Amino acid sequence: MTSPRTTNLSLVDTDPAELAVDAIVIGVHSQTGEQGATSGLAGTLLLASGAESIAAAFDGKLTETLALLGATGGPGEVIKLATLGTVTAPLVTAVGLGPEPSGAAPAPETLRRAAGAAIRALAGAPKVALALPLPDADASAELRAVAEGALLGGYRFAGYKTRPQPTRREPVAEVLIAVPDAGDADAQAEVARAQAVAGAVRLSRDWVNTAPNELRPPSFADAVASAAREAGLGVEVLDEAALAAGGYGGIVAVGQGSEAPPRLVKLTYTPQDGGNGKRVALVGKGITFDTGGISIKPAQGMWEMKSDMAGAAAVGATMLAIAALKPSVAVSAYLPMAENMPSGTSYRPGDVITMFNGKRVEVLNTDAEGRMILGDAIARACADGTDYLFETSTLTGGQVIALGKRMAGVMGTPELCDRVKVAGDTVGEPAWPMPLPDDVRKGMESEVADISQVNAGMDRAGHMLQGGVFLREFVADDVAWAHIDIAGPGYHSGEPTGYLTKGGTGVPVRTLVQLVEDVAANG
Ligand code: BES
Ligand code: MN
Ligand code: ZN
Repeated sequence: MTSPRTTNLSLVDTDPAELAVDAIVIGVHSQTGEQGATSGLAGTLLLASGAESIAAAFDGKLTETLALLGATGGPGEVIKLATLGTVTAPLVTAVGLGPEPSGAAPAPETLRRAAGAAIRALAGAPKVALALPLPDADASAELRAVAEGALLGGYRFAGYKTRPQPTRREPVAEVLIAVPDAGDADAQAEVARAQAVAGAVRLSRDWVNTAPNELRPPSFADAVASAAREAGLGVEVLDEAALAAGGYGGIVAVGQGSEAPPRLVKLTYTPQDGGNGKRVALVGKGITFDTGGISIKPAQGMWEMKSDMAGAAAVGATMLAIAALKPSVAVSAYLPMAENMPSGTSYRPGDVITMFNGKRVEVLNTDAEGRMILGDAIARACADGTDYLFETSTLTGGQVIALGKRMAGVMGTPELCDRVKVAGDTVGEPAWPMPLPDDVRKGMESEVADISQVNAGMDRAGHMLQGGVFLREFVADDVAWAHIDIAGPGYHSGEPTGYLTKGGTGVPVRTLVQLVEDVAANG
């Protein structure tokens, strides 16, 4: 299942007032304090740069008119104004950017959200131009942000309705971004990069939004494998027989309760120039549906566990972006996939499982299934050899409790956790480093096996950290690693906002791409 169509994106450097588009988007800032208080209603609003020629066409009345329509310049606000022939486009759309940063262009994430909010609000308009403020010198980060925001705000999941929806407006099909020089090679490179990255985010949203009866481990593996082959990546798929023969005890155990058998998909990107000598491994949790298994979850909200493969979706989609961007570093990806079901063949609390690296795990709660499949995949990645390992998963409800719906938790080698935080801040996918305390590991001592899967007394204290502490057991000593828990950020259950649509978010695709490029550039 894919989105109805893609969003075309290009640069334009002609006068925005003369563009033959269905709507032209400009930015407005809010003005607070004395500045705003002196000049009445319009005094609370400030046009952002990029809107000059539009403002001129309105004879100096644009700010006042927008203010009359209720514009305050607050972030996320979208106000539409019919132009009645003043400019070529029939509609001007003012998007709020918050207070003007002194002398500088707004932060990239502010622009990304504004572009996304505007493009979402303009669904129904086929062709839209964005005339948003960009800095005079080196606008690459801001341009990238505007492009990504537009492409992600233009995302919509195709869905399953059998009849056309007459009241539903089609997403914007074509976006033009106004820049000083549309022929500039750096600017064009940013657009190409944004298309590759946003394309990956959209694909990962599609996979997450697909109904869980349509995306079970074999079909998910097929979808990832065929997209990867088409992109020129190396592909290896282990089926249930190969997993059993290969000693992947964790993946086999979780997968054995379902009629749809488990898979492990490995994707390989080999840089044409031989790379910089570093190897990166990406690992993503691919539970296509998490009922909890024998330790079954409550019915309330269980449907949302169709998103429990968001980590694998992000990792698979990231590899496609990497195939397009061709960074100078070797990257391998590991996507363990299973459906966690209760049945007569399910694994059970009390089972002892021998994992891929030989360690034995005592199962206490079959709902802690993610760490079972990830332990195997991480150990396999380390056996293949890697310098950096980034793993991402919708692992614990504790992540949402601790950090909320928008902030991922990061555990692992401290320096690498910091690097993940910096990458996340850069791309607008915030992540916060968390510790791996000794007492949490002590609480996971098993009476009978090497480690118990959760706290031996089923104490939920340090819930998110228990996941990290468990996964550490499967990382080789010489590998720098980071576990990114996206239980909250992987899925957006609220109303659309900024460039986030309802459902899968595609987090942390943009962080992973950024990290791979960071390792390619800096080792
Ligand atoms: N997939 C869930 C975690 C989750 C919860 C993701 C909410 C997204 C939103 C995971 O497999 C799980 O069930 N975790 C349990 C672990 C517990 C049984 C140790 C949890 O968080 O309660
Ligand atoms: Mn679970
Ligand atoms: Zn799960």
